[in-house]
Amino acid sequence: MAESMKGLKRTHRCTEVSSQNIGETVTVMGWVQKRRNLGSLIFVDLRDRSGILQLMFDEENIGKEGFEKAGTLRSEFVVAAVGEVVKRSGAVNENLKTGDIEIKVTQLRILSEALTPPFPIEDGITTKDEVRLKYRYLDLRRPSLQRNLMMRSKVCTSVRNFLAEEGFLEIETPILTKSTPEGARDYLVPSRVHPGNFYALPQSPQLFKQLLMCSGYDRYFQIAKCFRDEDLRADRQPEFTQIDMELSFVDADDVMNVNERLLARIFKDAIGVEVPLPIQRMTWQEAMDRFGSDKPDIRFGMELKNISDLVKDCGFGVFTGALENGGSVRGINANGQGHMPRKKIDALVDFAKGYGAKGLAYLVINEDGTYKSSFAKFMKPEELDSIVARLEGKPGDLLLFAADKNSIVWNVLGALRLEIADQLGLLKKEEYKFLWITDFPLFEYSEEENRYVAMHHPFTMPVEEDIPYLTTDPGRVRAKAYDITLNGTEIGGGSVRIFQSDVQEKMFEALGFTEEEAYDRFGFLLTAFKYGVPPHAGLAYGLDRLIMLMAQEDSIREVIAFPKVKDASCLMTDAPNVVDEKQLEDLKIAVITDKKDA
Ligand code: AMO
Ligand code: AMP
Repeated sequence: MAESMKGLKRTHRCTEVSSQNIGETVTVMGWVQKRRNLGSLIFVDLRDRSGILQLMFDEENIGKEGFEKAGTLRSEFVVAAVGEVVKRSGAVNENLKTGDIEIKVTQLRILSEALTPPFPIEDGITTKDEVRLKYRYLDLRRPSLQRNLMMRSKVCTSVRNFLAEEGFLEIETPILTKSTPEGARDYLVPSRVHPGNFYALPQSPQLFKQLLMCSGYDRYFQIAKCFRDEDLRADRQPEFTQIDMELSFVDADDVMNVNERLLARIFKDAIGVEVPLPIQRMTWQEAMDRFGSDKPDIRFGMELKNISDLVKDCGFGVFTGALENGGSVRGINANGQGHMPRKKIDALVDFAKGYGAKGLAYLVINEDGTYKSSFAKFMKPEELDSIVARLEGKPGDLLLFAADKNSIVWNVLGALRLEIADQLGLLKKEEYKFLWITDFPLFEYSEEENRYVAMHHPFTMPVEEDIPYLTTDPGRVRAKAYDITLNGTEIGGGSVRIFQSDVQEKMFEALGFTEEEAYDRFGFLLTAFKYGVPPHAGLAYGLDRLIMLMAQEDSIREVIAFPKVKDASCLMTDAPNVVDEKQLEDLKIAVITDKKDA
């Protein structure tokens, strides 16, 4: 039977008790981690979110009845214990913060009994993710998740403190809203009052924060829930959190500056890491050329080298063919990997094919300086020498090459570089390398839609000198957009916004929107701008991704209390789910079931 807490008040969390308290009587409460019976003594590890504290029961202190009660304790029972803090009777446990003390219990109450949990409440378990997520409330008791969520809370506090000091106002924006232009699919919410009409859940507070700038709240921030119906991956959830901000009367440099200081503050406050400032910057073009990625991991080298000029007249059709089609030939040097067995190289070729490569050419520099290569027979010795020189090849190195359209070559070699670094253990999670990426292309061509689409969103300001090309040559226009990346992950992004109506009109024209279509979607923003709009710019972080990297985890699921799985369902609550007929009737919604689903 569960007892009450009546008359008891918790005095300390488990690890708040220390040898400083020896001789004092304390009251602690928490979960039973484990019980050990040693004949006349019973030891119980008591756990709360702070950690573990040892309770000691002997008949002399707690009486016969209390001793028997202690003998019934099982894992995950919730108990309250009153007792004296004493020096540990047995050996000191160096692994515990409270390893040199224990509580000589004089009073025990069982506040709640517990079923045996389906997996042990400890770190390093091998339990399947599905089971962990079904019993998420138990999973959340494990120390690693508790550490992650406590750190997440610290980060949010740090963000709020810093931004408040910098004059930002925290303002909430609606969740039931109209579609925002971030490019993913919307989650829709049917309206009962307006049958057939739907709210969209915000993909970001983008339009509202720009309106707040129009309204004069010149520095806004929000820790905002965002919703995007897109394919889930390790770093993507259908609902996630942004640290979102917008500033008036600023340019890109001002936004980047305040955010560098914000990042430094967060890392210092939450994990005690110094972030050296300023953070390195690189244009999108340079990032693609050197790393094959717009979010390069700069914890290691293995940079891409363009060898197109060296092979344009060679006898290898794969290379010259790619160049004739407007592509390029580029390579990376996997230093010291020349000994890699053929089977492993073949596995890398397959890996490259997974990223769209038609093949992968390689060249090994033997210890005696001769070459072993899949394409040597098509090349003159001096051509091979010049390629090796371009990649700074030394005996023992493995050089890998891709020939194709630029986008494929970048994608393949960018991924390959990461894969090899991972295999070689070069990706140290405790090393934090930030990098700004600037000057993104304003548009990307969508083969699917057969038109240019905004790479960021349609309110992103073009680089001034590129404005004349907005309608004549959109592909070359650069954006005043910036992403902040950390260890190869995009943790945030933003831009300077268009505030001049003539530039905005040209932008819509380039995107193939008529004025009517533009007003239909974003009319409230465009009209608002007519009433006086300050120049403004902003940025949003993916909070979950940031915390994932700070916690050195591989998935944002490890830093979100109640995450969803790959098919966007919640294994604990079984959401999404069917609803009552009556609810559908109220909404005037009829469900059409696909034959294959039924
Ligand atoms: P963007 O679309 O780049 O910009 O989003 C900002 C950051 O949010 C994170 N993010 C996600 N995290 C988890 N799951 C997802 N599905 C997901 N999608 C995005 C990323 C990303 O860098 N309104 C603009 C910001 C601005 O211009 O001010 C925006 O939303 O870390
Ligand atoms: P092949 O003449 O098709 O046998 O190709 C010779 C070598 O070139 C093999 O090692 C292929 O894997 C490689 N190769 C084929 N296509 C490409 C490509 N697009 N880029 C780089 N290497 C390629």
